Amino acid sequence: MEMLKRPRRLRGSEVLRKMVRETRMDKSSLIYPLFVKDGNNLEEEIPSMVGQFRYSVDRMPYELERLQKAGVNSVMFFGIPDVKDEVGSQAYAEDGIVQRALQEARKQFPDMYLITDVCMCEYTSHGHCGILCGHDVENDKTLEMLSKTALSHVQAGADMVAPSDMMDGRVEAIRRTLDQAGHKETPIMSYAVKYASAFYGPFRDAAGSAPSFGDRKSYQMDPHNSREGIKEALLDVDEGADIIMVKPALAYLDMITKVSDVTNVPIAAYSVSGEYAMVKAAAANGWMDEERTICEMATSTYRAGASIYLTYFAKELARFMDEGRIG
Ligand code: PBG
Repeated sequence: MEMLKRPRRLRGSEVLRKMVRETRMDKSSLIYPLFVKDGNNLEEEIPSMVGQFRYSVDRMPYELERLQKAGVNSVMFFGIPDVKDEVGSQAYAEDGIVQRALQEARKQFPDMYLITDVCMCEYTSHGHCGILCGHDVENDKTLEMLSKTALSHVQAGADMVAPSDMMDGRVEAIRRTLDQAGHKETPIMSYAVKYASAFYGPFRDAAGSAPSFGDRKSYQMDPHNSREGIKEALLDVDEGADIIMVKPALAYLDMITKVSDVTNVPIAAYSVSGEYAMVKAAAANGWMDEERTICEMATSTYRAGASIYLTYFAKELARFMDEGRIG
């Protein structure tokens, strides 16, 4: 048969397939989410996230060392305090769990890049992401708490802060607070396009941060909306966000592409706990090939337009990249 164009010509060998690859990945773009917990000598496996652990500050360095050895140099800290209260005061306490973890990590791993999740939900007794007024989260009062929290993280050694609460105006509030305190150079990665998602289920289990009543739909986005995600992203860029994040990743690849088309900042995507748990569960049952699934999820995310990837599979991906099996 006469045919001038044959797409299969470029798929004939592994060498050729790699040569014409459109999406290339690098370990430097990986961020590993790390749970740190009050207490001593703790390395608790998270039941809904097999293979992921909560570390006390004294055990955390072992994990940081494993990450560094694997070539994953950036981590995002999530704190799990022993004591929670109405106003989440452990979020901004000088000796809070994240603050102590930062100090220790900074001391022992001066070359690692330390990012913090800035939110109230792990610290409030009611599990909501801010200060309550009746049954609603009071936006503007919460901004003060978030700003205090972000500043205390930076003072404890954070290189970058990442607000995940979805309050209006929080990027600007945090930017102004950091600038006034002389931290003009500290970047903000905003969880700008964050949906009210069932995929956070295992995380809430890990952090004990499920809301004690209601849900997060009055602040996180409705999964039906796409143009609203662009609004959120553009607002945060205007407020001084340096990096915009889309979250979750796999079910929101369209948003990664759209947001990267309309902004000129780097786009991060967070492959969340539910994505991790689904892969683990299917693989444990022999229903899917774990490595190929991890690689395909990562590739799709970068292909969609992300240049930064937050994932619980960071160590595995780094190894697959080293071995030339992805990227
Ligand atoms: C804090 C926060 C959450 C996640 C990241 N930051 C939980 C939530 O919004 O309920 C989820 C991460 C994951 O599921 O892996 N607000």
